[in-house]
Amino acid sequence: MARNQSRPPIALFSMTGSSSEADASISQHFNTNQSHRCGSSIKDPSYQLSSVSGGPCSIHNTSSSIRFSSNVSSSASEEDDAIEMLINTPSSTATKFQSLITSRRTVSNYVSAPPSTMTGERTSSLDTSQFLRAAIKRGVECAITAPNHKMTEPTTFYSIISPSKSSEKLLDIVYEVTLQRLLQQKLSGEEACRSEATRKREKWANIPAFLVATVGGMAEQVPSHINTTDAEGKFAELPLIPPSNIKQLEDYAASCASIQNLLLSLHSEGLGSKWATGPVIRTLAFRELIGCKPEDMIAGLIFIGWPKREPRMPRRRRELEGDVLRDV
Ligand SMILES: Cc1cc2nc3c(=O)[nH]c(=O)nc-3n(C[C@H](O)[C@H](O)[C@H](O)COP(=O)(O)O)c2cc1C
Repeated sequence: MARNQSRPPIALFSMTGSSSEADASISQHFNTNQSHRCGSSIKDPSYQLSSVSGGPCSIHNTSSSIRFSSNVSSSASEEDDAIEMLINTPSSTATKFQSLITSRRTVSNYVSAPPSTMTGERTSSLDTSQFLRAAIKRGVECAITAPNHKMTEPTTFYSIISPSKSSEKLLDIVYEVTLQRLLQQKLSGEEACRSEATRKREKWANIPAFLVATVGGMAEQVPSHINTTDAEGKFAELPLIPPSNIKQLEDYAASCASIQNLLLSLHSEGLGSKWATGPVIRTLAFRELIGCKPEDMIAGLIFIGWPKREPRMPRRRRELEGDVLRDV
């Protein structure tokens, strides 16, 4: 059978029972089949049907393991089919996991509470801050298991739950940074710049939580010639000081891997996210808000919350086979 030809899936995938409630909610809120738009061979778990019946040569593809039993009476072609199925049909755990990975999308617009389809009627009084804090903690637990060379464990996460004193300070920074940039660009008058900065502040006010990821052990991120007491200067963009040796580069890479683990963990709980690296994070005011050290590089500001609408999969331009993935 040709590699991409579809065949009935063999994995038993149950969408009922307690542990699958979150899965059901994820598939309600995210079209996990989006992966097909970029030509992925990964199947949506909700389309996994039933287990294969035991034949002379059968594969029992269970959630965590594959048992393959061969029977001498099976014909060669049956065995070939079974082997091909084994190669092309991962276990239901793998399929479910891969589908979660490929269905994560960057979310730009948020609502302040989960939809009732996710929480159920009995949890209408859910304390969303408490939930976000707990989900972030689980996400960071996943983040710290990402690979990091020489076990340097370079990443620190700073969490800001809205509304709070810290989130208000962040919104003020967003306003000032946006205003300064717009005024410098001189594309419109002061009033228009102020109203655009206010619009941006309001958009950020709808983001339920933020997490800042920093990488330690970098070169000093605030050059000595910068006046750290100048009130306006606190919102000016600092120069980019990238990793400059192998350890710093590897630590930054490890930090990025841990951020992706975090995003996937959040997504698995129905939370949307955006990894942002815009000008706000490259200011003294932002560094002072989180209280990081001069040698901490900010790898990203992560927006967290419940998606206002189902995010779209941006078009991936490159083909998988022969381009992204090449046999050598
Ligand atoms: C290191 C990094 C920085 C990013 N910075 C921004 C950003 O500042 N603003 C933004 O809107 N998206 C940002 N993104 C998100 C990308 O735009 C997004 O991942 C990309 O469009 C692909 O969409 P997807 O995540 O839904 O697959 C960033 C992503 C990465 C990995």
